[in-house]
Amino acid sequence: MKKPKKSFLLHAFLFIILICLVYFAFITINLKNNPPPTPSSAVFHSFTTNASTITKNLDYNIWLIFTKVSTKSPLTVKFENLLYSLLNVSSVLLNFNIIVDEKSKSIALLKLTEIMVKANKSMNYKFYDVQDCARKITDIYDAMMPFFSSKPGTYYSDALFYISLGLYRVAPIKQKRAILLDCDLYFKKDVALLFEEFQWFKSTAFFGLAPELTPVYKHILHMYKRKHKTTFGEFYHQRPLSPSSPNHPKGFQGYNSGVVLVDFEKQRNSTEFSKIITKESVINMTEKYKFRGHLGDQDFYTLLGYEYPELIQTLNCGFNRQLCTWWRDHGYREIFDYYFKCDHPIVVLHGNCNTRIPMDYVNPQKNLTL
Ligand SMILES: *[C@@H]1O[C@H](CO)[C@@H](O)[C@H](O)[C@H]1NC(C)=O
Ligand SMILES: *[C@@H]1O[C@H](CO)[C@@H](O)[C@H](O)[C@H]1NC(C)=O
Ligand SMILES: *[C@@H]1O[C@H](CO)[C@@H](O)[C@H](O)[C@H]1NC(C)=O
Ligand SMILES: *[C@@H]1O[C@H](CO)[C@@H](O)[C@H](O)[C@H]1NC(C)=O
Ligand SMILES: *[C@@H]1O[C@H](CO)[C@@H](O)[C@H](O)[C@H]1NC(C)=O
Repeated sequence: MKKPKKSFLLHAFLFIILICLVYFAFITINLKNNPPPTPSSAVFHSFTTNASTITKNLDYNIWLIFTKVSTKSPLTVKFENLLYSLLNVSSVLLNFNIIVDEKSKSIALLKLTEIMVKANKSMNYKFYDVQDCARKITDIYDAMMPFFSSKPGTYYSDALFYISLGLYRVAPIKQKRAILLDCDLYFKKDVALLFEEFQWFKSTAFFGLAPELTPVYKHILHMYKRKHKTTFGEFYHQRPLSPSSPNHPKGFQGYNSGVVLVDFEKQRNSTEFSKIITKESVINMTEKYKFRGHLGDQDFYTLLGYEYPELIQTLNCGFNRQLCTWWRDHGYREIFDYYFKCDHPIVVLHGNCNTRIPMDYVNPQKNLTL
């Protein structure tokens, strides 16, 4: 074949460019005169799709971790369900702070926009890079990982299991308090109820957590409990079990970290806190109880709850109604229900260990109570 002449190629190229320019100009004019229909223009009007407005409302800060996802991942579905339930029943304007990697960020953006339209509510949001966050808590991760991580995986993702303890370093200084949520939650009632719990914090408390609702800590502490009389790991009893455990005479199931309330301001002001998250402190506590966990930050909160109860405000179980029943079928059938029981009104359902949240959540009582 004969090679086309260079000048011909050049002309063809210029011609294509010209066509494109005309086309885009047409589209632009057309859009200006005739914007594409939106689900409801009134709806879009109030949306904040821009992080610069997040400082308008300092108080209702929610943190989520959304990494390593694809459009079809179960995590994406959980994320959508959580956000939709949160928005649908929220009476306050929420500021979402979402820790993402590049790919997850674009999926999150897409879902946020869809959900705002579907729930017809506005919200603020801001993204944080997962690697920046992990870097800011390297010391915490190094101190805790040997005792509370099941299988040391890739560094960055694993470090995020401890992010709640160092979130005060990541959060903008303007944020005085926040709630960190797992993605496998579902809000039955207004999240403002959860924010109201901050006002009941004792003056020394940095964190607010609800109890763990399985015997996992009885299991982890079995070595220690064989040799020591202790209420640590026992389910909550009506009456005191042992006067020798003044902090938790009626039992102590430990904490679950699916919902964590954090008072950043107190944490930033504290000199005590930085000592408690050191390697030496973690070693002291884990040695004492022969403690080897696998649940990340919640293992640490559970130890804190026993050794430094003044640092944690215990929320009632309705604020984190866990649904995982794995331990019922793994050696704890007789006592499981004493741990699992929750008589408080349910604000948040937690489908932990991949438990499907029943879609009759509107009236879940029959499934959930003993
Ligand atoms: C966000 O909004 C501010 C002020 O409304 C504006 O100056 C800025 O360019 C916007 N940023 C983006 C990414 O849209
Ligand atoms: C959304 O909220 C309304 C009431 O505000 C409720 O009737 C509806 O069931 C909720 N939708 C879902 C899917 O939770
Ligand atoms: C969306 O919410 C606004 C008020 O926030 C309300 O006026 C409007 O009717 C709602 N639209 C729909 C479709 O529910
Ligand atoms: C933290 O310290 C600042 C400045 O010293 C003070 O204004 C603030 O009240 C303190 N906050 C708490 C919660 O202790
Ligand atoms: C760890 O235990 C040792 C010995 O009991 C004690 O001297 C030290 O202060 C403890 N350190 C921390 C950070 O709790």
